[in-house]
Amino acid sequence: MPRPDLQTNRPLTIALSKGRILDDTLPLLESAGLMPNEDLNKTRKLMVDGAGGVRFLLIRAADVATYVEHGAADMGIVGRDLLLEHRPHVMQPLDLGIGCCRLCVAGPSELVAQGEPKAGSRIRVATKYDYLTERYYLSRGVHADIIHLYGSMELAPLVGMADRIVDLVETGSTLKANNLIEETTLFEISSRLAVNPASMATRKTLIQPVIDALSEAVNKGASKA
Ligand code: PRP
Repeated sequence: MPRPDLQTNRPLTIALSKGRILDDTLPLLESAGLMPNEDLNKTRKLMVDGAGGVRFLLIRAADVATYVEHGAADMGIVGRDLLLEHRPHVMQPLDLGIGCCRLCVAGPSELVAQGEPKAGSRIRVATKYDYLTERYYLSRGVHADIIHLYGSMELAPLVGMADRIVDLVETGSTLKANNLIEETTLFEISSRLAVNPASMATRKTLIQPVIDALSEAVNKGASKA
Protein backbone atom coordinates (compact mmCIF):
# COMPACT_ATOMS: atom_id res chain seq x y z
CA MET A 1 0.00 0.00 0.00
CA PRO A 2 1.59 3.36 -0.97
CA ARG A 3 2.54 5.47 2.04
CA PRO A 4 1.71 9.13 2.25
CA ASP A 5 4.64 11.52 2.04
CA LEU A 6 6.24 11.70 5.46
CA GLN A 7 9.13 13.98 4.48
CA THR A 8 7.16 17.19 4.60
CA ASN A 9 10.30 19.37 4.77
CA ARG A 10 11.89 18.15 1.59
CA PRO A 11 11.82 20.31 -1.56
CA LEU A 12 8.90 19.92 -3.93
CA THR A 13 10.03 16.89 -5.91
CA ILE A 14 9.21 16.27 -9.57
CA ALA A 15 9.99 12.95 -11.27
CA LEU A 16 11.01 13.12 -14.92
CA SER A 17 12.26 10.60 -17.43
CA LYS A 18 15.11 10.94 -19.85
CA GLY A 19 14.60 10.06 -23.46
CA ARG A 20 12.65 11.72 -26.21
CA ILE A 21 9.99 13.23 -23.94
CA LEU A 22 12.56 15.30 -22.05
CA ASP A 23 13.13 17.63 -25.02
CA ASP A 24 9.45 18.59 -24.94
CA THR A 25 9.37 18.77 -21.14
CA LEU A 26 12.25 21.24 -20.68
CA PRO A 27 10.58 24.20 -22.47
CA LEU A 28 7.46 23.67 -20.33
CA LEU A 29 9.56 23.71 -17.16
CA GLU A 30 11.42 26.80 -18.30
CA SER A 31 8.19 28.63 -19.12
CA ALA A 32 6.82 27.65 -15.69
CA GLY A 33 9.95 29.03 -13.93
CA LEU A 34 11.19 25.58 -12.95
CA MET A 35 14.49 25.28 -14.82
CA PRO A 36 16.88 22.59 -13.53
CA ASN A 37 20.30 23.86 -12.40
CA GLU A 38 22.05 21.37 -14.69
CA ASP A 39 21.59 20.07 -18.22
CA LEU A 40 19.36 17.06 -17.62
CA ASN A 41 20.36 15.54 -20.95
CA LYS A 42 24.02 15.47 -19.94
CA THR A 43 24.18 14.92 -16.20
CA ARG A 44 24.66 11.47 -14.74
CA LYS A 45 23.07 12.60 -11.48
CA LEU A 46 19.68 11.12 -10.67
CA MET A 47 18.63 14.00 -8.41
CA VAL A 48 19.06 17.63 -9.54
CA ASP A 49 17.90 20.87 -7.91
CA GLY A 50 16.14 23.55 -9.89
CA ALA A 51 14.76 27.08 -9.81
CA GLY A 52 11.76 27.76 -7.60
CA GLY A 53 13.09 25.46 -4.86
CA VAL A 54 12.16 22.28 -6.69
CA ARG A 55 14.09 19.03 -6.98
CA PHE A 56 14.01 16.74 -9.99
CA LEU A 57 14.40 12.97 -10.00
CA LEU A 58 15.62 11.46 -13.28
CA ILE A 59 14.31 7.96 -13.72
CA ARG A 60 13.02 5.54 -16.32
CA ALA A 61 9.66 6.46 -17.84
CA ALA A 62 8.08 3.26 -16.54
CA ASP A 63 9.18 4.10 -12.97
CA VAL A 64 7.90 7.69 -12.73
CA ALA A 65 4.38 6.77 -11.61
CA THR A 66 5.80 4.42 -8.97
CA TYR A 67 7.83 7.21 -7.36
CA VAL A 68 4.76 9.46 -7.39
CA GLU A 69 2.45 6.75 -6.08
CA HIS A 70 4.78 6.05 -3.14
CA GLY A 71 5.20 9.73 -2.34
CA ALA A 72 8.94 9.74 -3.10
CA ALA A 73 8.06 12.41 -5.69
CA ASP A 74 5.19 14.85 -5.23
CA MET A 75 4.51 14.85 -8.94
CA GLY A 76 5.84 13.48 -12.20
CA ILE A 77 5.39 13.46 -15.93
CA VAL A 78 3.99 10.17 -17.19
CA GLY A 79 2.63 8.88 -20.49
CA ARG A 80 -1.08 8.11 -20.53
CA ASP A 81 -0.18 4.65 -21.87
CA LEU A 82 1.61 3.81 -18.60
CA LEU A 83 -1.19 5.27 -16.48
CA LEU A 84 -3.77 3.17 -18.33
CA GLU A 85 -1.68 0.02 -18.20
CA HIS A 86 -0.51 0.17 -14.57
CA ARG A 87 -3.38 2.19 -13.00
CA PRO A 88 -1.27 3.81 -10.26
CA HIS A 89 -3.04 5.55 -7.40
CA VAL A 90 -2.22 9.12 -8.54
CA MET A 91 -4.12 12.24 -9.49
CA GLN A 92 -3.94 13.45 -13.09
CA PRO A 93 -4.72 17.18 -13.06
CA LEU A 94 -3.13 18.18 -16.36
CA ASP A 95 -2.70 16.96 -19.92
CA LEU A 96 0.68 18.41 -20.92
CA GLY A 97 0.03 17.99 -24.64
CA ILE A 98 3.47 16.49 -25.25
CA GLY A 99 4.55 12.98 -26.22
CA CYS A 100 1.49 12.73 -28.43
CA CYS A 101 1.04 9.39 -30.15
CA ARG A 102 -1.45 6.53 -30.15
CA LEU A 103 -1.61 3.01 -28.78
CA CYS A 104 -2.40 0.73 -31.69
CA VAL A 105 -2.92 -2.82 -32.74
CA ALA A 106 -0.77 -3.51 -35.81
CA GLY A 107 0.15 -6.54 -37.82
CA PRO A 108 1.57 -7.83 -41.10
CA SER A 109 -0.43 -6.40 -44.02
CA GLU A 110 -1.51 -9.84 -45.27
CA LEU A 111 -2.95 -10.75 -41.84
CA VAL A 112 -4.59 -7.37 -41.28
CA ALA A 113 -6.15 -7.64 -44.77
CA GLN A 114 -8.05 -10.73 -43.57
CA GLY A 115 -9.87 -8.57 -41.03
CA GLU A 116 -9.81 -8.41 -37.26
CA PRO A 117 -9.66 -11.73 -35.41
CA LYS A 118 -13.12 -13.23 -35.01
CA ALA A 119 -14.77 -14.01 -31.68
CA GLY A 120 -13.65 -17.44 -30.50
CA SER A 121 -10.35 -17.29 -32.36
CA ARG A 122 -6.93 -17.38 -30.77
CA ILE A 123 -4.02 -15.10 -31.61
CA ARG A 124 -0.54 -14.32 -30.35
CA VAL A 125 0.09 -10.67 -29.49
CA ALA A 126 3.48 -9.17 -28.63
CA THR A 127 3.32 -6.15 -26.35
CA LYS A 128 4.47 -4.52 -23.16
CA TYR A 129 0.86 -3.51 -22.49
CA ASP A 130 -0.35 -6.89 -21.23
CA TYR A 131 -3.34 -5.60 -19.25
CA LEU A 132 -4.73 -3.30 -21.96
CA THR A 133 -4.17 -5.91 -24.66
CA GLU A 134 -5.85 -8.70 -22.75
CA ARG A 135 -8.77 -6.44 -21.86
CA TYR A 136 -9.21 -5.37 -25.49
CA TYR A 137 -9.29 -8.89 -26.87
CA LEU A 138 -11.43 -10.22 -24.01
CA SER A 139 -14.01 -7.57 -24.87
CA ARG A 140 -14.10 -8.99 -28.41
CA GLY A 141 -14.28 -12.62 -27.32
CA VAL A 142 -10.84 -13.34 -28.76
CA HIS A 143 -8.32 -15.36 -26.80
CA ALA A 144 -5.01 -13.49 -26.92
CA ASP A 145 -1.83 -15.25 -25.91
CA ILE A 146 0.24 -12.33 -24.67
CA ILE A 147 3.96 -12.40 -25.44
CA HIS A 148 5.50 -9.83 -23.15
CA LEU A 149 8.36 -7.85 -24.67
CA TYR A 150 10.23 -4.78 -23.37
CA GLY A 151 10.79 -3.02 -26.72
CA SER A 152 11.19 -3.40 -30.48
CA MET A 153 7.80 -5.11 -30.64
CA GLU A 154 7.76 -4.68 -34.43
CA LEU A 155 10.22 -7.54 -34.81
CA ALA A 156 7.93 -10.19 -33.32
CA PRO A 157 5.59 -10.62 -36.36
CA LEU A 158 8.56 -10.53 -38.76
CA VAL A 159 10.08 -13.60 -37.18
CA GLY A 160 6.74 -15.39 -36.87
CA MET A 161 6.53 -15.08 -33.08
CA ALA A 162 3.31 -13.04 -33.02
CA ASP A 163 0.28 -12.31 -35.21
CA ARG A 164 -0.21 -8.78 -33.92
CA ILE A 165 1.55 -6.19 -31.79
CA VAL A 166 0.09 -3.60 -29.48
CA ASP A 167 2.47 -0.64 -29.29
CA LEU A 168 2.82 3.11 -29.51
CA VAL A 169 2.77 4.68 -32.97
CA GLU A 170 3.88 8.23 -33.54
CA THR A 171 4.93 8.86 -37.14
CA GLY A 172 4.25 5.29 -38.30
CA SER A 173 7.73 5.02 -39.77
CA THR A 174 8.78 2.06 -37.57
CA LEU A 175 5.69 0.10 -38.64
CA LYS A 176 6.29 0.97 -42.29
CA ALA A 177 9.97 0.02 -42.17
CA ASN A 178 8.96 -3.40 -40.86
CA ASN A 179 6.06 -4.02 -43.26
CA LEU A 180 3.39 -3.68 -40.60
CA ILE A 181 0.15 -1.72 -40.80
CA GLU A 182 -2.15 -0.31 -38.17
CA GLU A 183 -5.36 -2.20 -37.57
CA THR A 184 -7.01 -0.34 -34.68
CA THR A 185 -6.28 2.62 -32.45
CA LEU A 186 -6.95 1.72 -28.82
CA PHE A 187 -6.10 5.05 -27.15
CA GLU A 188 -4.82 8.51 -28.00
CA ILE A 189 -1.76 9.11 -25.82
CA SER A 190 -0.03 12.16 -24.39
CA SER A 191 1.99 12.92 -21.27
CA ARG A 192 0.12 13.77 -18.10
CA LEU A 193 1.09 15.46 -14.87
CA ALA A 194 0.66 12.85 -12.13
CA VAL A 195 0.36 14.05 -8.53
CA ASN A 196 0.53 12.10 -5.28
CA PRO A 197 -2.87 12.48 -3.56
CA ALA A 198 -1.37 12.78 -0.05
CA SER A 199 1.03 15.47 -1.28
CA MET A 200 -1.88 17.30 -2.83
CA ALA A 201 -3.71 17.19 0.49
CA THR A 202 -0.77 18.19 2.70
CA ARG A 203 1.35 20.40 0.42
CA LYS A 204 -1.26 22.06 -1.73
CA THR A 205 0.25 25.55 -1.30
CA LEU A 206 3.46 24.25 -2.91
CA ILE A 207 1.84 22.05 -5.52
CA GLN A 208 -1.04 24.11 -6.86
CA PRO A 209 1.18 26.99 -8.08
CA VAL A 210 3.28 24.47 -10.04
CA ILE A 211 0.17 22.95 -11.62
CA ASP A 212 -1.09 26.44 -12.49
CA ALA A 213 2.28 27.50 -13.95
CA LEU A 214 2.55 24.32 -16.04
CA SER A 215 -1.05 24.74 -17.18
CA GLU A 216 -0.26 28.27 -18.32
CA ALA A 217 2.88 27.03 -20.10
CA VAL A 218 0.81 24.39 -21.92
CA ASN A 219 -1.82 26.95 -22.93
CA LYS A 220 0.93 29.24 -24.27
CA GLY A 221 2.24 26.36 -26.37
CA ALA A 222 5.61 26.56 -24.61
CA SER A 223 6.61 22.98 -25.54
CA LYS A 224 6.55 23.97 -29.23
CA ALA A 225 8.51 27.19 -28.73
C1 PRP B 1 8.51 3.66 -29.81
C2 PRP B 1 7.43 2.64 -30.08
C3 PRP B 1 7.63 2.31 -31.53
C4 PRP B 1 8.15 3.60 -32.11
C5 PRP B 1 7.03 4.31 -32.82
O1 PRP B 1 9.67 2.98 -29.56
O2 PRP B 1 7.55 1.54 -29.20
O3 PRP B 1 8.58 1.29 -31.68
O4 PRP B 1 8.58 4.42 -31.00
O5 PRP B 1 7.46 5.55 -33.35
P1 PRP B 1 7.17 5.91 -34.88
O6 PRP B 1 5.73 5.62 -35.16
O7 PRP B 1 7.47 7.41 -34.96
O8 PRP B 1 8.10 5.11 -35.73
P2 PRP B 1 10.94 3.65 -28.92
O9 PRP B 1 11.79 4.27 -29.97
O10 PRP B 1 10.52 4.60 -27.84
O11 PRP B 1 11.72 2.42 -28.32
P3 PRP B 1 11.22 1.07 -27.62
O12 PRP B 1 11.01 0.08 -28.74
O13 PRP B 1 12.34 0.70 -26.75
O14 PRP B 1 9.95 1.35 -26.87
